[in-house]
Amino acid sequence: MSEEKSSSEVQEERKVYFGERLREFQRRALEDPEGFWSEIAENLVWFKRWEKVLVWDPPFAKWFVGGVINASYNCLDVNLKNGNKNKVAYFWEGEEGITRTLTYYQLWREVNKFANVLKKLGVKKGDRVSIYLPMIPELPIAMLACARIGALHSVVFSGFSASALADRINDAEAKILITADAFYRRGKLIQLKKSADEAVKQTKSIEKVVVVKRVGLEDTPMTEGRDLWWHELMKDAEPYCPPVPVDATDPLFILYTSGTTGKPKGVVHSSGGYLVWVWATMKWAFDPKPDDIWWSTADIGWITGHSYTVYAPLMHGVTQVMYDGAPDYPKPDRWWEIIEKYGVTEFYTAPTAIRMHMRFGEEWVNKHDLSTLRILGTVGEPIDPEAWRWYYKVVGKERCPIIDTWWQTETGGFMISPAPGIELVPLKPNFSVSYGLPGVHAEVVNDEGKPTKPYERGYLVILAPWPGMLMTLWRDPERYKRVYWTKFKPNEELEFKIKPPAIYYTGDYAMKDEEGYIKFMGRADEVIKVAGHRIGTIELESAFIEHPAVSEAAVIGKPHEIKGESIVAFVTLKEGCEPSEDLRKELRMWIRKRIGPVATPEAIYFVSKLPKTRSGKIMRRLLKAVVSGAKLGDISTLEDASSIQEAIKAVEELKKAMGEEKKS
Ligand code: PRX
Repeated sequence: MSEEKSSSEVQEERKVYFGERLREFQRRALEDPEGFWSEIAENLVWFKRWEKVLVWDPPFAKWFVGGVINASYNCLDVNLKNGNKNKVAYFWEGEEGITRTLTYYQLWREVNKFANVLKKLGVKKGDRVSIYLPMIPELPIAMLACARIGALHSVVFSGFSASALADRINDAEAKILITADAFYRRGKLIQLKKSADEAVKQTKSIEKVVVVKRVGLEDTPMTEGRDLWWHELMKDAEPYCPPVPVDATDPLFILYTSGTTGKPKGVVHSSGGYLVWVWATMKWAFDPKPDDIWWSTADIGWITGHSYTVYAPLMHGVTQVMYDGAPDYPKPDRWWEIIEKYGVTEFYTAPTAIRMHMRFGEEWVNKHDLSTLRILGTVGEPIDPEAWRWYYKVVGKERCPIIDTWWQTETGGFMISPAPGIELVPLKPNFSVSYGLPGVHAEVVNDEGKPTKPYERGYLVILAPWPGMLMTLWRDPERYKRVYWTKFKPNEELEFKIKPPAIYYTGDYAMKDEEGYIKFMGRADEVIKVAGHRIGTIELESAFIEHPAVSEAAVIGKPHEIKGESIVAFVTLKEGCEPSEDLRKELRMWIRKRIGPVATPEAIYFVSKLPKTRSGKIMRRLLKAVVSGAKLGDISTLEDASSIQEAIKAVEELKKAMGEEKKS
């Protein structure tokens, strides 16, 4: 570069140089989706080739129309034929130190047998099966068995409570529930079957409950005629189950996620587009090689586990590590020990975990030989540059690129992330996701839906359909339309490569730099991210209000050093109910029971009124400012200013009380 060039000329040059190959992929994906996606989809095995790549009737997209496929066939049978038969699919390790290894052949056998078990229990194509299991091999086995017979799985995170499970079973009208006796977390026994039983009591559709003996508890309650042991059913199961051919546009699964209302949303993913998308995005972002050892630490109960512990890595024939336990148990170096033990080459985790390990200190990392690592990844929430640098230096020893992947339950797979599988562009800790993957037409817009200038905060929107996009919300297409496709209207300042134009709203704040790199800045809606887990404030508020003492509740996310955000609630009580420390404890337990331990509030403040606008809307923005000690800003729409004074006082009093408790 000559010295005479102005900085803008240099920027121009960079724009062309950075990611030339990536841009070419992007151009083809958006300008010739038929050709581009046909080429990619050929990497999967289809029983019948598609006739049309995309039929787009906004906001409903059908991908690979006419194509016939089976997910379990692509994850398993294909590997039996291509030389991976005796390769390890999963190295599994339990928190208490026990291990299991499953080759592709063994996994294939288990899946076939369990598919036959499901058939015997009356499960047919299109039926729903709820799965409530810890991170044990039976979880992917059960999912793939559903996929083999064309049934839809609905996995519910094992950390969720009985009532959260019941809501999800009822919405999906699942026939079968698969669960386990118990599991360990931080050495403590969690009695999962007990929660499952409590949930089933609140449902009508469950006919049978299949129970995996994970721990071997003596006194697991089993209901005669309804509950069956997994190992007993498997004893006499036939060894082969032919994969059921399904249409590319048939749903593969439902996964519930939080939104801005109390009711969780049943995100539905397709069999064809979803598989193509997770196959392609894993290749682009992590470029797995035959001798890689892939470890994604996310629980399979979340989309990350569905896409990148089950479907994509198995289709790529990758060997994985799967761990059922806490990251810091029995000591803070448990993860680093596992990486060393199995020679993990690609490691994928969440910023909240990185921040927690940062706190423990680098000596825990340095005790282990992590030289096998070649790529590091992160997902779930914005990663701050400090955590990015620590991950890069301390874990990756400045050798491994950090692949920060932005995506959502709804998007099926990675959307915006560096793509070393195509071309690695220079990474920036502060704009760490770089730009959209091929086929992802991402833009940042302002309130009017117009593109923002560099460094101006706006909303991240997607301007073209992509193969991994959700098909709809389970039995609620109207909600699907309303939530994702109505916030912004197409306008002349936005360019739409795929027509008719439509705008997918992500719910995230973001900005671009002058090179088009993107930075995520948290949720723009009423969704909180606690340690990467997505929780709707309204869902929490409804749970509070169900308590007999509570009249009203306002829940907000407060910045938290490790978890990203923590849950804080302001609560008003019914006539005759008095605030007390006992009630505070009771409410904490109530929320844990209603939703799960991830939703435990960090603080609950009792007030006599909530700050509201004259039209009665709770001003959560003001409460957020109060708990974080920020300026209140404009309070002209506040109906009663004393409400905010009261909130300030409640926060101060609790702080003082807690300080005194600590001292004593
Ligand atoms: O706010 C974004 C955040 O997580 C949301 C999606 O949550 P969920 O559906 O639970 O899926 C999480 C795993 C894919 C997004 O709307 N998010 C996810 N990844 C990132 C992120 N925020 C910033 N950077 C990321 N890499």
